Amino acid sequence: MNNGIPNHVAIIMDGNGRWATKQGKKRTDGHYAGYKRLKKTALYILSKGVKYLSVFAFSTENFGRSSEEVGYLMDLFVKAFKKERTFFKDNNIKVLFSGRKKPLSDDVLKIIDIIQEDTKDCSGGVFNVCLNYGAQAEIVDATKKIAQLYKEDKISLDDIDTNTYYHYLYNDLPPVDLMIRTSGEIRISNFMLYSLSYAELYFTSTCFPDFDEKEFDKALEDYQNRNITKGKIK
Ligand code: IPE
Ligand code: IPE
Ligand code: MG
Repeated sequence: MNNGIPNHVAIIMDGNGRWATKQGKKRTDGHYAGYKRLKKTALYILSKGVKYLSVFAFSTENFGRSSEEVGYLMDLFVKAFKKERTFFKDNNIKVLFSGRKKPLSDDVLKIIDIIQEDTKDCSGGVFNVCLNYGAQAEIVDATKKIAQLYKEDKISLDDIDTNTYYHYLYNDLPPVDLMIRTSGEIRISNFMLYSLSYAELYFTSTCFPDFDEKEFDKALEDYQNRNITKGKIK
């Protein structure tokens, strides 16, 4: 059996804090290490022929952490995206963001707009960053968009089905084929609930800062050997 290269891979990048604590470092050092790892691993995954890569960078629920940690992460997003501004374009990667704008700061929103605009014509893969993201909120927001369009007579109820519903999510991306979660937690934590409906799930105890090319290859091999039936018999 070989299921080939998944079209859309999604990663819950978990375990930065524990990775750092284990080494006697601060949790925030783990976030920095996660950012450095993401740059390498994302490029590798897209170079393998994966067309869409979604990553969970910050959940809506993560605003419940200490102000020190939240502040560090927000600063890191701004600094990292400013620093990597040309990296995406040079590698022909289109960057998208998924999540609610509120209560992100103007600095974060500004750099998000810049990167999206800079890379809008790139065709070598899509990198979807889920930031201030929650999947239930995404479904609610999509439903509101649909209700508004219906009210304005711009769509009819027949236009909405399980395939067209994707158009109303934060970004119109295809379903996820492979979802990876690092650090040993076996849950979805409100990530891409609609798009994961038939994804293959892969859990590894490796913390995200150690999730390198070899670790991705292991996940890929596992995926390629799965019996993907989607309700049918194979
Ligand atoms: C994931 O790592 C990164 C974010 C949630 C921003 P964690 O910060 O959740 O690390 P652990 O799970 O506490 O080790
Ligand atoms: C999920 O990880 C969110 C991100 C990786 C950004 P968390 O560490 O926040 O999730 P829980 O608390 O284990 O569910
Ligand atoms: Mg965690």
